[in-house]
Amino acid sequence: MDSRASVFDVEAAAERLRGKPGALLGLLEEIQDSDPARYLSEENLKRAAAALAVPPSQVWSVATFYGFFNLQPQGRRTITVCRGTACHTRGSLGLLKDAASLLGCEGYDPNSEGAFTTADREYTIRTVACFGQCALAPVVMIDDEIYSRMTPGRLVAVLSGAKKRGAKKAAHVPRRRYEGEAAPSVEGARR
Ligand code: FES
Repeated sequence: MDSRASVFDVEAAAERLRGKPGALLGLLEEIQDSDPARYLSEENLKRAAAALAVPPSQVWSVATFYGFFNLQPQGRRTITVCRGTACHTRGSLGLLKDAASLLGCEGYDPNSEGAFTTADREYTIRTVACFGQCALAPVVMIDDEIYSRMTPGRLVAVLSGAKKRGAKKAAHVPRRRYEGEAAPSVEGARR
């Protein structure tokens, strides 16, 4: 078992949420937010289904529909590079390659749509279809912070600074999203 495994009480949370609108979505969000690796394990998906007495297929449908749910362990920090048309024409592929190289993502294919997490689970690098800020392309998000009109030099500076601060920085807490809010078109977002 992962030494950072979550000890979140799924059943207690389900009891609290049962009968409320969006109970399943809320439960999955709480599970993911509580997990040090910010993902929904197979075990926790099964527990959520049992705790809310809903079919596992329904839990899986929700978990795979919303792009902000992760089905694999995530790095402590997340770098998301927009690969939409506007950002692409302004050099986002180069930024993605630079980020992957700087963060030691050996084996990552920048042309793939999949996310990649470093072996030490320090960084996850991923792409998004559009941040909705095309006029500010190219756009990169580091954790929850958006950087517009990103340049290779600035990206290196920001990531280098982030790496230096990495050991001191508290664990990243993902922004919560709620039912009805548009899910970002993140790669692997099961669109
Ligand atoms: S294409 Fe990158 S923000 Fe829209």
